[in-house]
Amino acid sequence: MKILVTWWSSTGNTKKVAEAIFEALPGEKTIKPFAEVESIDSYDLVFVGFPVRQFGVHAGVRKFISTHAAGKKIALFVTHAMLSQGNDPAKQRLLEKELERCRTAFSESELVGFFHCQGELSEPVAAELMQSGIPMLQVFASMQPLTSGHPDQSELEQAKDFTSKVITGDMR
Ligand SMILES: Cc1cc2nc3c(=O)[nH]c(=O)nc-3n(C[C@H](O)[C@H](O)[C@H](O)COP(=O)(O)O)c2cc1C
Repeated sequence: MKILVTWWSSTGNTKKVAEAIFEALPGEKTIKPFAEVESIDSYDLVFVGFPVRQFGVHAGVRKFISTHAAGKKIALFVTHAMLSQGNDPAKQRLLEKELERCRTAFSESELVGFFHCQGELSEPVAAELMQSGIPMLQVFASMQPLTSGHPDQSELEQAKDFTSKVITGDMR
């Protein structure tokens, strides 16, 4: 089985998860960013990763999906600033909605797995969002200290477990 791990990452969080997944993969495997992917047709399984942007899927990621992903076997991984296990129900609903948008972006694919974890909101980005004057973006900026250090070692281990489950077909 030929496997590709591909990602888009602007500050390195999703790339870290991609590398953990790649490390956990057995067999014939390749890793490269979206920008270096010409076609995924020769792969039997593709791990696709990206960060959540503005409560959903960035236009550039949508373009990658519409160009490459239809009919393909995809294992999806996503990073986001929102706490994965927060105790604020409104924020949890928001997180669930943004994750659902990520999943449904692959409605034309065979989605064989989904992993998500928190990713640090970089300080320069937080400062920029804070100055945007847009309340929802300022909410993210204020969460910056809670995101620090993610994905952490435990989340990277979870990404490896996820990889093994996808490979053994143990996701359901
Ligand atoms: C412009 C911008 C918008 C973002 N919007 C969201 C969002 O709506 N929801 C969320 O949970 N995280 C949001 N984030 C946080 C990123 O998803 C998170 O920090 C991610 O781990 C970044 O991954 P990367 O380092 O691979 O780019 C946003 C980050 C940026 C820079």
